[in-house]
Formats: sequence, structure tokens, C-alpha cells
Amino acid sequence: MWKGRFSQQTADLVQQFGESISYDWRLYKHDVRGSIAHARAQLNAGLLTADEFAQIEAGLRSIEADIDAGNMEWSIALEDVHMNIESELTKRIGAAGGKLHTARSRNDQVATDTRLYCREMIDVTIDLIRDLQRVLVTKAEQYAESVVPGYTHLQRGQPVTIGHHLLAYVEMLDRDADRLTDARKRVNISPLGSGALAGSTINLDRHAIAAELEFDRPTTNSMDAIADRDYIAEILFALALVGTHLSRFSEDLILWTSAEFGFATLSDAHTTGSSLMPQKKNPDVAEITRGKTGRLYGNLVALLTAVKGLPLTYNRDLQEDKEPLFDSIDTISLTLRVNTEMIAAMEINEERTLAAASDPMLLATDLADYLVKQGVPFRSAHELVGTAVALSVETNTPLDKLSDEQLQNISESYGPDAREVFDLKRALAARTNPGAPSPQNVRSECQRWSDKLS
Ligand code: ARG
Repeated sequence: MWKGRFSQQTADLVQQFGESISYDWRLYKHDVRGSIAHARAQLNAGLLTADEFAQIEAGLRSIEADIDAGNMEWSIALEDVHMNIESELTKRIGAAGGKLHTARSRNDQVATDTRLYCREMIDVTIDLIRDLQRVLVTKAEQYAESVVPGYTHLQRGQPVTIGHHLLAYVEMLDRDADRLTDARKRVNISPLGSGALAGSTINLDRHAIAAELEFDRPTTNSMDAIADRDYIAEILFALALVGTHLSRFSEDLILWTSAEFGFATLSDAHTTGSSLMPQKKNPDVAEITRGKTGRLYGNLVALLTAVKGLPLTYNRDLQEDKEPLFDSIDTISLTLRVNTEMIAAMEINEERTLAAASDPMLLATDLADYLVKQGVPFRSAHELVGTAVALSVETNTPLDKLSDEQLQNISESYGPDAREVFDLKRALAARTNPGAPSPQNVRSECQRWSDKLS
């Protein structure tokens, strides 16, 4: 494509080193679409005859169909998807093919293709996030009343419901979907017409091209348009954070499915055995999810690092943007799908979660709240309950089994009704503040989410 100035062939190793066709072939549909929009603008500018345009369009469509069918031979000598398709076009239609690249560079072409790809993948990923949210909401409804300890520092804190715990992840995933939707606004602008870096002396209607490609508008600075990879960085960050959330959920599941917790059971179809220990049933999906989060971070850091030292505008380093992007998209897609399926089949062992939540220590805070309602300042109430907790530990008496006398020795404010706070059902039902875990709240939150996600 650039032979005019060169008297030597590109060395084999340079071809091997520099090719991107082995992975950027997946932009072929976007490349064809971008090229047709570009050719139409040439037609409207009088640079192509109607016949030449028709040949280019039909040629590109036939190439696309062949690629769809697996009948395209990619060549690393042609470096990337753009040159492979253009050279194939000229092979098929002759001279008209040579006109397609007028007023275009691979620099604005690759930016256009990548933006089209990102836009499509954002939509696909958001749909997958929504699927996982829906499954979580269904589980949350099913376990709206199942009590479980809520933890801080992985020490039992206060009782919550499984429904409330699961809905926490629905919130995180919702922010993830929002972040992708927001990033989409900055993805969805058209660099085509920015040329190699300085536009072109041949004026094509950039607004018409943008409209045909369903971009919101053309980019407004040719140098920025060529050099910008922010939109990829944003996506990689958003996906890394999806990974973070799924990894935290995985960690919960790994704990919940251990014999020590026994809170949840995963289906046989979503667990694996051991080649040595016959009894094992391992939560591999959760572990691999946790593990894959590392590569999502790695992809973000690889992209940021590739871009950070680059003078304006295009530098070949930018070709290194694609593998991290494709890898994160593929990784998060499979991760979301397998987790959705696994969680749909997950069962909660309610006797185990109830037994764990029945530790009266979980309601020590409620006992302090009781004292507050008797007029004791919270700091003093905290101390008075702390003393009762110490007595319970010392005398090996469960906190709810301390006698009226023992309690009243600590403070007169402990009335005979103090022990009512240890009624778990009552304690949960009392947590009705907006955002609190009462079964009633969980149910109305599930309703809100189902409405939003339907
Ligand atoms: N394969 C290249 C990339 O992905 C396309 C742009 C090449 N441009 C150039 N001036 N060599 O970045």
C-alpha cells in the first residue's frame, strides 16, 4: 500500500512483529460499515460516480459475507483488517477500489472502527449486567426473610437478610451499567474525516457520515480524534470495576459454601470435583471469577501505560489498545454469563444462616438502642452493654440469658422488658429506615428493581 517510496520488502520479522490482523479481524463489520459511509460521502461530493459507489458497496458487502462464512484469507503482509479488506476490494472490483481511501487515513479509520465496536459491546455488556441483576433480584425475593449475620471485619456484626445482602450487589451492578452508559456518550462520536491527523483538503460531509454511522456528532479536533483513546480507558476501567464487584461476590460465595459457613450450596453443574479427594465440591467459578479480575486490571494498566508517553498524534504504540480491549470484553462477557447461571441455581441453607444469626451478640447494638430509648446517652449505653457482654463471656452465659438481676446490677435502666430485643424477627422487622434490611424493605426494593429491570 505504500510501495512508492520503498525499494526493499518489509522483513518477515517486522511483518510478524507488526501485524494486528490476527486479532483486529474482529473489526471487519465495523470496517465495512465505516467504508460504505465514507464512500457515500465521496459519492455525494462528486468524487465517485454512482456506478463506482455501487461497485464499492457491493464489493464490501460480498467481502463481509465471505468473512461471515469463514472464507476470507487474511494476510499478515497486509498488516491489519483495514488493508486486508481494501486490498481484497480492489482485487474484486478493480480501479474503483483504489478510490475508497481518498480523504481517509487508517488513523481515522481505526478510530472509527474501534468506536463502533466499543459502542456495540457496551450495549451487549449492559444487557449481560441486567441479566445478572434480574437473577439476583429473584433470589433476593426468594430469601427476603432469611436472616443471616451481616459482617464487618469478617466478624459477626448485626443481623440482615439474605435478600438485603444480594440486593447490595444489584446496586453495585447498577452503577456499573450507568458507568458504561455514561462512557457510551464519549464513545459515540465520529472521527472519520480527521485523516492522518490534519483532516483533508478534500471536503467530505462529516455530519452526514456521522449520521449514517449513528454517531451523535463528528469529533471537533482532528489531532485529538486521532490520538484519543480515553474512550477505551473508560471502558476498561468500568469493566475492571465490574470485575471487582463480581470478585467480592465470589469471595462471599467461597465463604458461604465452605463447611465452616455452610450458608449456600451451588449446583453440581456449577462446581467441580477433585481428582484426588472424592468428597470435594469446589466453587471454581467463583475462584476463577476472582482470579480473572487481575487480568481486567492488567488490561486497564496496559492501555494507560501504552498511551501515557505518546506525543500527538498517532503512534504505532496505539495498536496495542486492541488486545486489552478485546480481552476485557470477552472476559467480562463470559464471567457475567456463567455467574448469572450459577447464581440462578444457587440455594441458601436457611437453617444454617438462621443458626449463625441467632447468636444474641448480634443484637448487642439493639440492646444499647433499648437503653437509649430509656433515656441513656448512647456512649453510656454502649459501655453498659459492653459490661453485660463481658459478663456474658466471663460467665459463659449467652447474652440473652443474663438474669434481670445481673442486668440491673449493671444498670437500673435495664428493665424486665430489655430481653425482648433478642427476638430476631422483631429486631429485623424494626429495621425499616430507608435502605435498612427489614423483610418489608427488601420486598419493596425487589419490586422497585423488577420494575426497573423489566
Ligand atoms: N493497525 C493499526 C492500529 O491498530 C491501524 C492504524 C495504522 N496507522 C499507521 N499509521 N500505521 O493502530
